[in-house]
Amino acid sequence: MAFRVAEFYSGIGGMHFALKEAGIPDVKVVRSFDINTVANEVYKHNFPDVTVMQRNIEALPMSMYEALRADLWTMSPPCQPYTRQGHQKGSEDPRSKSFLFIIDLLAKLACKPRFLLVENVAGFDKSDTRAVLLRQLARLGYRFEEYVLNPLQLSIPNSRTRYYLLAKLDSSPPSNASSAGDAEEKEEEEELELPNLRHTVPGVDMIQPPADAEGRVDFERGIWHHDGVRQVKQYMETDLSSEDAEPFRLSAKVLEKYDYVMDVITPEDRRTCCFTKGYTKYAEGTGSALQLTGVVGKDPKTRENTRYFTPREVANLMGFPAEFTFPATTSNRQGYRLLGNSLSVSVVAVLMDYLVHRM
Ligand SMILES: C[S@@+](CC[C@H](N)C(=O)[O-])C[C@H]1O[C@@H](n2cnc3c(N)ncnc32)[C@H](O)[C@@H]1O
Repeated sequence: MAFRVAEFYSGIGGMHFALKEAGIPDVKVVRSFDINTVANEVYKHNFPDVTVMQRNIEALPMSMYEALRADLWTMSPPCQPYTRQGHQKGSEDPRSKSFLFIIDLLAKLACKPRFLLVENVAGFDKSDTRAVLLRQLARLGYRFEEYVLNPLQLSIPNSRTRYYLLAKLDSSPPSNASSAGDAEEKEEEEELELPNLRHTVPGVDMIQPPADAEGRVDFERGIWHHDGVRQVKQYMETDLSSEDAEPFRLSAKVLEKYDYVMDVITPEDRRTCCFTKGYTKYAEGTGSALQLTGVVGKDPKTRENTRYFTPREVANLMGFPAEFTFPATTSNRQGYRLLGNSLSVSVVAVLMDYLVHRM
């Protein structure tokens, strides 16, 4: 029997590619959900057999959710409610409404998914939405584990620190959940004890990030320049002609005006910063640029030797396989936006394998 998956907030299908990489046999994405028309075009281009629901998640009827009968629900809800730039309003932010709707819906479903996987920014762990989610999972009898991980730990030279929740509905009562009735009674008197976040996945060979005296881990500085991380050049397009590279060259204005705020690395380096949806639009904090020759900071950056990573290269660093492509109608700017909103396929694949086969 097929392993059925419902992909919420599907974007360009990062979760779907991770499912394929995780090697789950006979897996079938029965439906995906997203309101972004450009993202949905990319999704359908890569997965023409999947029905993509272009509707607000919170506006769909209960009967549709019941009919999914999915073994796994994957969810990467909007992250703005949990970021500093988004003012960290958490559940008060209207953009968290659809995810709160799903959390509530889980209790009403006669046929609940056996597995759940949630991905979000690292700040999600400090949010009130996390507490709502965990309380609901405990009440419904799910066993869960939470992780904060970075692709650098898998020797991939790209930083993307993210929160992940894995949940499994066991037939026997889980250790971190009381019975439904008990939990409801206790809820008002007892604050939910938030479990510790984990930084390595059982059975997976990962670089352990160093922690300070308070136990805070620093993925970036702790792992940047680690010999175990691969060099950036392994992820670059090798056949890029001078003409192909032209649209990706940094303008003279950017080189002159923003040189000091931009993160620039060479093909020999073993790190890139997180690529966000503003990559190439804003110079600071949106991802790294490449200096192809010379030494950064010593040799001059010129239009000829400095360029942005191409969307294909960003996709490579995020673990998208070679068969992932954008339709011809997607502009480079749209491609960067969509990739910036997506996820590390490589990290999620490792988590899916653990969730479905070993957790
Ligand atoms: C963080 S992105 C997820 C990206 C996805 N994991 C990927 O691999 O591309 C969040 C997505 O949720 C979608 N979204 C936000 N609110 C929604 C809602 N109420 N109903 C359906 N989709 C929604 C956005 O359009 C966006 O594509």
